Amino acid sequence: MLFAGDPSPATAPMPVTVFREGRRRQPTARAVIYLADQTPSLPVVTAVKVLAINGSPHKDGNTARLLGYVCSELELKGIQTEIMHIGGKPVHGCTACGKCFENRDMRCIIEKDDVNACIAAMAEADGIILGSPTYFADVSPELKALIDRAGFVAMANDYLFSRKAGAAVVAVRRAGGIHVFDTINHFFGISDMITIGSTYWNIGVGMDPGDVDNDEEGIRTMRRLGQNMAWVLEKLTKG
Ligand SMILES: Cc1cc2nc3c(=O)[nH]c(=O)nc-3n(C[C@H](O)[C@H](O)[C@H](O)COP(=O)(O)O)c2cc1C
Repeated sequence: MLFAGDPSPATAPMPVTVFREGRRRQPTARAVIYLADQTPSLPVVTAVKVLAINGSPHKDGNTARLLGYVCSELELKGIQTEIMHIGGKPVHGCTACGKCFENRDMRCIIEKDDVNACIAAMAEADGIILGSPTYFADVSPELKALIDRAGFVAMANDYLFSRKAGAAVVAVRRAGGIHVFDTINHFFGISDMITIGSTYWNIGVGMDPGDVDNDEEGIRTMRRLGQNMAWVLEKLTKG
């Protein structure tokens, strides 16, 4: 954590912004919290954050675009967003070793891929969006591996994602998307999270990268999803 600003007694109390190491963007929304060793006149301000994880190997494909529509709405409401891509990368499945329940260190024992970085970012975020293309009526294998490993690590560590807001985002060409939606929502439902919905199931229709931009109803669904997540996050982070 980096602490910006160290107000001298001569200056008026200034909000202090907390950044995750390496984060450069200025947060746009703020929830005020107080550290135990600080007086209330020196509030620490943290950004409300949403992490979106793209399970598609297409970095600018349909899933990424749908995530973009949701994140734009969140940003409009002053919420900081970040998209991480795990699709197309080597992501190992859960080996059922049970080490996460022995170690309880908020990590998976498998260190050779991006899952621990995702878990750390998920633990830090106030809201988590998991996006996936439809692959034979289910999530991509990379996203499934993340769900299994992050899910077990979270359980092993007193439900790491407890009461965070969660939303599924699904790209589909024709059929099977509802099963993908269900798979992702099952993860939120067993992780002590609050699942966010929209005016239709959170699915956009398209085949080639960019096709979902023609799915007017899908875009409307994503925009409302972003607005609903922002609405819930405002209530959750007010304290
Ligand atoms: C291996 C594979 C399996 C797929 N299975 C389905 C399917 O079951 N149903 C469907 O409608 N589309 C299926 N698709 C199409 C993708 O879900 C669709 O093109 C999606 O928009 C891709 O999203 P992306 O651009 O984010 O990767 C499949 C595509 C691939 C590569």
